[in-house]
Amino acid sequence: MKLVDLRSDTVTKPTTAMRRAMAEAEVGDDVYGEDPTVNRLQERAAELFGKEAALFVPSGTMGNQICVKLHTRPGTEIILEERSHIFNYEMGAAAAFSGVTCRPVRGEDGLLNWNLIAPAIHHSAPYYVTPTSLVALENSHNMAGGAVLPLSVINDICQHAHALGLPTHLDGARIFNAALALNTTVAEIARPFDSVMFCLSKGLGAPVGSMIVGTKDFIKEAVSVRKMLGGGMRQVGVLATAGMLALEESPKLLAEDHANAKRLATGLAELPGVKIDPERVQTNIAIFDIAATGISTAQMAAELKTRGVLANGINAREMRMVTHYDVSREEIKQTIKITKEILGR
Ligand SMILES: Cc1ncc(COP(=O)(O)O)c(C=O)c1O
Repeated sequence: MKLVDLRSDTVTKPTTAMRRAMAEAEVGDDVYGEDPTVNRLQERAAELFGKEAALFVPSGTMGNQICVKLHTRPGTEIILEERSHIFNYEMGAAAAFSGVTCRPVRGEDGLLNWNLIAPAIHHSAPYYVTPTSLVALENSHNMAGGAVLPLSVINDICQHAHALGLPTHLDGARIFNAALALNTTVAEIARPFDSVMFCLSKGLGAPVGSMIVGTKDFIKEAVSVRKMLGGGMRQVGVLATAGMLALEESPKLLAEDHANAKRLATGLAELPGVKIDPERVQTNIAIFDIAATGISTAQMAAELKTRGVLANGINAREMRMVTHYDVSREEIKQTIKITKEILGR
């Protein structure tokens, strides 16, 4: 039985075209800057994002942490959203590797704006107050149900931060989903940020890899920090070639993922005790509250699994389902039916 895997968009398998390209990739030693496929991917990413340069890194976490390291100095703090990936799911790397603390700010439905951020910033504060060194946003916001920060809000936050001399970083793991939801380009979202990290290995389907984009000087330093973290790779064109297909081809498929997430949310919203507002499902992530059903999230995940659907509880109340190109419209229907059956027992 084929499992319907809605745990994450990271579970996507490389396409046939990616596997073929990997077998035939032209490669060289990328630590010497001699892998032509990696170089092409980096040039193309920089072009697409409207930045001077780009760097291929093994993971989103490494990409984010390289940027944190370069923007900050030890003994300072980063402002981020309470449910953000950098704060919650990167093993305290900002503290362990860059010596910075995180100041989480709760967004409205996960979305920050300057009014929420401003009071948390320590700028020109007395010398004994931990100074802010970076503002980091996440778009789309994974744990806020794939919520999307509008361009006007992004621009406003970055403008205010820059006016205070603070750099801005975007965790754009799913920036292509955000761009689709906002009906804009990734370059337009990336424009006000000093650095952006985005993932090739999530909804875009590459087996491995993320990228960071920024100025030439920033990326030059990022190469050294990547090496420090053990992220200097050799004939990595075999991965970059899949990344290139992810970059060029996969964004076209995301509309179907968004439509499927919306269908899923609409179906789930009709089930007794399930709380989700389909209007708020803007991208490929549906987070729904099942506390009122009397079934725990662990139980729900287990019951779904016995019926061939994989999904995770993210806390005691909420389940998360993520759509991607390996899940069809029919399987979404099936998932709603199965969830209904579990709740109807
Ligand atoms: C928003 C966000 N940022 C960063 C990452 C980290 O990516 P990776 O798993 O490649 O380290 C993830 C992974 O799920 C994510 O959802």
